[in-house]
Amino acid sequence: MKKKIFSGVQPTGNLHLGNYLGAIKNFVDLNNDTQNECIFCVVDLHAITVSQNPKQLKSNIYETVATFVASGIDPQKSTIFNQSQVSAHSEVAWILSCVARMGWLNRMTQFKEKAGKDKEKASIGLYSYPVLMAADILLYDTTHVPVGEDQKQHLELCRDVAQKFNNDFEVKDFFKAPEPLIKKEFSRIMSFKDGLKKMSKSEVSDLSRINLTDDKDQIINKIKKAKTDTLPLPSKIEELEKRPEAKNLIGIYSSLTNNTFQKTIDEFAGKNFSEFKNNLSDVVVNEINPISLKIKELLEDKDFLKKILKDGNEKANEIASKKVKEIHKIVGF
Ligand code: TYM
Repeated sequence: MKKKIFSGVQPTGNLHLGNYLGAIKNFVDLNNDTQNECIFCVVDLHAITVSQNPKQLKSNIYETVATFVASGIDPQKSTIFNQSQVSAHSEVAWILSCVARMGWLNRMTQFKEKAGKDKEKASIGLYSYPVLMAADILLYDTTHVPVGEDQKQHLELCRDVAQKFNNDFEVKDFFKAPEPLIKKEFSRIMSFKDGLKKMSKSEVSDLSRINLTDDKDQIINKIKKAKTDTLPLPSKIEELEKRPEAKNLIGIYSSLTNNTFQKTIDEFAGKNFSEFKNNLSDVVVNEINPISLKIKELLEDKDFLKKILKDGNEKANEIASKKVKEIHKIVGF
């Protein structure tokens, strides 16, 4: 049986090395396997859970599509589409929000982090965001969802929502509970300023992340300035547990060279960071620079990007609207 893959990325700008290693690189591998049917969504409805500048949002939507294609997703093989253009997502999110329980959402750690101290002022959308995510996934009978570690809890909620809907309406197996695909070792790339914080689009300092649009000099400079400790590189994996910055950089190097942590450690044990960082810069530039150049080239051809979305929106609409009809019947509309 074909695997049905679905994943989404928010068009909130500053797509970075964490998004790439935690998610987009896996999308590309899954896209290249003919056994898979892949759908990748630009989740603009999720983006507006925090305030967005409309002009900027539009340009970020195109940039996200360009990033998918520049990274190696083939729009002929995979469906790339725009969440807001398939109204089933908003509609089914509402229906599922009548199935999901407050208690489940209250446990979501990402809401707590994003809402910060003043929860009362967070949007209702930010709170119910994982329910929209469940709708995204369940509309396409998804079997597998490639994501970074930070989305794991949302996927567990999606599985709970699917099961409760099936139980409440006595429709065994109507919604399929999806499996997360998380590349364990590289699923949480950390900030270059603080090895205990996730690399993030919204961190104020641009030096905290490598953006997928950064040029060669920017990449080299950011790696040079990345926080490390004063010790040479360790010779044992266990030593990394107390050295989060070293662990992060070694992880990035291992991921991009397709090596295990141990192999990287064997290669650099006892060497100083300046030598390691030169090697790291080479592999990051090799991987990211062609993507960044391609993104810029694709952004010059808006018609091409619009066509990808138009075709993708049509395909997604076709699948999703069939599912919505079945949902209507089940619910009694
Ligand atoms: P978003 O846009 O925040 O992130 C996109 C993907 O990148 C991963 N990611 C990371 N991986 C490793 N290290 C990091 N520092 C890092 N930062 C981000 C995320 O885990 C994600 O896979 N809610 C989702 C989008 C979404 C979605 C969906 C995903 C909406 N509907 C349905 C899967 C299925 C989000 O905000 O991702």
